[in-house]
Amino acid sequence: MIYAANWKLNKSPDDAKRFAQELLTHSSQLENDQMILFPQALAASSLAESLRGSSIKWGLQNCYSKDSGAFTGENSLSVAQGMGASYVLVGHSERRSLFAEASGFLAEKNAYAQKLGVTPIYCIGETLDQRKNGQTRSVLIEQIHRGMGLSSKSLPFVIAYEPVWAIGTGQVATPEQVAETHLWIQEILKDFGWPELPLLYGGSVKADNAAVLKKIKNVDGFLIGGASLEVSSLLAIRDAE
Ligand code: PGA
Repeated sequence: MIYAANWKLNKSPDDAKRFAQELLTHSSQLENDQMILFPQALAASSLAESLRGSSIKWGLQNCYSKDSGAFTGENSLSVAQGMGASYVLVGHSERRSLFAEASGFLAEKNAYAQKLGVTPIYCIGETLDQRKNGQTRSVLIEQIHRGMGLSSKSLPFVIAYEPVWAIGTGQVATPEQVAETHLWIQEILKDFGWPELPLLYGGSVKADNAAVLKKIKNVDGFLIGGASLEVSSLLAIRDAE
C-alpha cells in the first residue's frame, strides 16, 4: 500500500525533521509499504536531509511546468528532484478551487513531471453538488481526459481520488461509493487507452475507517491530510486491519 502524507501549509523545517526522525524509528514496520511525505516547499530541504538513505520518499505539493525562468513565486520541480524528490501532487482540490488551476493547466504539470522522472500523483474528484446531481462520472472523465492528455501512458503515474466534500470534513465516502468510483476510474482509463494505474483514496482517512477502505478492490493506498500530521496517527492508519 501507498501512504501519502499531505501536510499542506503545516510543519516548519524543524517540525519536518522531527517527524522524519520519529518515523524512521519505525522503519522496520514500513518495509512492505511505500510512505511518501509532502512537506511545504520551505521544509523540503530539511526533510530531504533527514530521510537521506531511507526508503521513505517525499515530494512537492505542487509544481510549475518549467525548470526555471520568469515565473515569480513558483517552485522548481527539477531543483526538488535534485534534492531527492520523487513524487509531486498535481491538481489537489485546494489548488483547483483556491488557486483556479484547471485540468488543461494541470496536464502540462503531469507531463512535465513524468518527463523529469518524477511521478505525478494526480488528484481528481467531484464536489458535493456534482455528486448530488449525478455528475461524478462526467467530472472524472473531464479531469482524466484533459488533465492526462499530454502524459505518457508508459511512464509511472498515480491517481488520487479525493471527493471534495470528504476532504478535511470528517465525512468519509462510504465503502460503496469508493468501490464504485474507483471502478469507474479504471474504466475511464481503459477507454482512454491507459493501463490500470495505482489508485489512492483521499478524504478524511483515519485509523478508524482505514481498515474497511483497505479491503476495497482498486484501493492501492491513501492520500492523508489531517491524520498525517502526527507519526502516531499516520502509523495507526498503516496498522489498521
Ligand atoms: P484530509 O485531507 O485527510 O484532512 O481530509 C486529504 C487531502 O486533502 O489530501
